[in-house]
Amino acid sequence: MKLLKLIANLGYGSRKEVTAMFREGRVTDAGGDVLYADDAVVHADVRIDGEPLDPAQSIVLMLHKPVGYTCSMRDPGRVVYDLLPPRFRLRNPIVSPVGRLDRDTSGLLLLTDDGALLHRIVSPKSGMLKVYDVTLAGDLRGDESSLFASGTLMLEAEKMPLAPVAMEVLGPRAARLALTEGRYHQVRRMFAAVGNRVEALHRSRIGGLALDGLASGEWRALTADDIARLFDR
Ligand code: URA
Repeated sequence: MKLLKLIANLGYGSRKEVTAMFREGRVTDAGGDVLYADDAVVHADVRIDGEPLDPAQSIVLMLHKPVGYTCSMRDPGRVVYDLLPPRFRLRNPIVSPVGRLDRDTSGLLLLTDDGALLHRIVSPKSGMLKVYDVTLAGDLRGDESSLFASGTLMLEAEKMPLAPVAMEVLGPRAARLALTEGRYHQVRRMFAAVGNRVEALHRSRIGGLALDGLASGEWRALTADDIARLFDR
């Protein structure tokens, strides 16, 4: 693939913008020699402003999503893409969220351009573990853990009961939930079903992967080790 097309597909700019980057000498090889649009150079040796290119395919990002951002491309308010470099929205194929967190939920969100990997994580068959910390508006009644673990809880407008959810009580109005499904607004609806209301919701873990010090609003690309850890549970 021509360098111009490769770089445009990675979302660094339109063809016109990437042409300008070549003209400005911003595209170089690993040794700092300026490259031209028609040069045939292996991906790993290309630099833009001295930085290596993003991988050509199968990039996975983790973002510590703050409250107030939606997992959407088109939303009049703030969207998770506002927290990432613009190239991730412009890449072809696009980097999209792996499942969704509500606007008012914070925590670990994955994004990828790899459709097969995305499916492997979100498919109901995957049973991928997701851990949420919940703060509630009212006190726990005491029977929530056994009800959620029973595999019999029916949410409104659903045909199948929820798969068992493990719940650890962290305080009178605080709990940690381990889900293996990802139904629409699942945690909020579970607590609505027991007459309570979620005040704050935070996802701390997906599979074996945790935020591990990534601050709110920050992101990083996953390594092969991270991806192995993700599936290691
Ligand atoms: N459950 C919810 O209710 N909201 C989320 O964002 C995630 C899980």
